[in-house]
Amino acid sequence: TLITNIASLVTNDPSLGWGSPRSSKFESGGGSPLGLIQDAAVAIEGDRVVWTGDQSKAPATDNRVDAGGRAVIPGFVDSHSHLVFAGDRTQEFNARMSGRQYSAGGIRTTVAATRAASDGELEANLTRYLHEALRQGTTTFETKSGYGLTVQDEARALRIAAAHTDEVTYLGAHIVSPDHADDPASYVALVTGEMLDACAPYARWIDVFCEKGAFDGDQARAILTAGKAKGLHPRIHANQLSYGPGVQLAVELDAASADHCTHLTDADVDALANSATVATLLPGAEFSTRAEWPNARRLLDAGVTVALSTDCNPGSSFTSSVPFCVALAVRDMGMTPDEALWSATAGGAAALRRDDIGRLTPGARADLLLLDAPSHVHLAYRPGVPLVSEVWRRGVREV
Ligand code: NIG
Ligand code: FE
Repeated sequence: TLITNIASLVTNDPSLGWGSPRSSKFESGGGSPLGLIQDAAVAIEGDRVVWTGDQSKAPATDNRVDAGGRAVIPGFVDSHSHLVFAGDRTQEFNARMSGRQYSAGGIRTTVAATRAASDGELEANLTRYLHEALRQGTTTFETKSGYGLTVQDEARALRIAAAHTDEVTYLGAHIVSPDHADDPASYVALVTGEMLDACAPYARWIDVFCEKGAFDGDQARAILTAGKAKGLHPRIHANQLSYGPGVQLAVELDAASADHCTHLTDADVDALANSATVATLLPGAEFSTRAEWPNARRLLDAGVTVALSTDCNPGSSFTSSVPFCVALAVRDMGMTPDEALWSATAGGAAALRRDDIGRLTPGARADLLLLDAPSHVHLAYRPGVPLVSEVWRRGVREV
């Protein structure tokens, strides 16, 4: 298949526009970070991209798709979501919007609803949000457990998630289970013992919510280290609600990603800049909790690799829309439209340590979006408008 008549194509090919993703890619004068090609075409064979370039040089084929002057970008890589849950938290949101503060305690409400749900209900709920996300251009997503907090309920959540994605994260350490409220150490022992054994076969990643009201630095280190010993790779909910040890721990353990990164010291930023750990920013959470925005500009200027994701969950960020997060990041977090688009595609791929997605270059998976717009800039320029008009995944049009 050859997609032609593309007004502007985002390849994220560093050789076209900038240096390595870990160098000073976003410094002014460096041109676009996106490897943009105007009047472009993309050739697909099977589930892979085999060629991208100037459409006048495209390989000959009978199977042509006319993009009609639309923009084409890589499918979004949403590297942080919590989609195995039941119920919602409308009342809590309402209370917040009349002045109450967000706290980790609300997670208990979703834990109760999730435990009470049948497998079929959880699966149907997950599928519904996945389709919602796909329609908005998400072609790869990570998702976590964390609303079960018993051996059976966590393993069940991961089994259901693993039927829909390879990027599955064990988050038994979301909060201390209410069943262990009087003895947090016994819950850490469960999370690093029997629960880990039951969950590890379904998961690629292990995560911990390192925060006041959840797990402290020592507990988080013990949990992630136990996960590593079982072959899981760490990622961390870090520095969301307050300053703390999460980001430094992420770097110490070579976590793929430190997520949230809202409250950072200069030492935290330096640590990230000198590591392979991606900072994943989740502006849906600050939007829905009326919290201070993470400072993307500060991270980018320091040379940190930044990803943008939804954090979709019923408590702190009930949006499945990456375009919404891109618009927030541009409006309120100091990102340019190019940087935000890179972070929502190649950045997400980096946060999942994947090199087969988040780019449209030969050999990459043919996950791509046609936008009802002449360029990707419209995602931020026209916030709230459903601009994703076609979604192709593994070379097949799905939306
Ligand atoms: O990433 N911060 C911890 N976990 C989620 C919120 C979960 C919830 O409130 O249900 C987050 O924001
Ligand atoms: Fe989260």
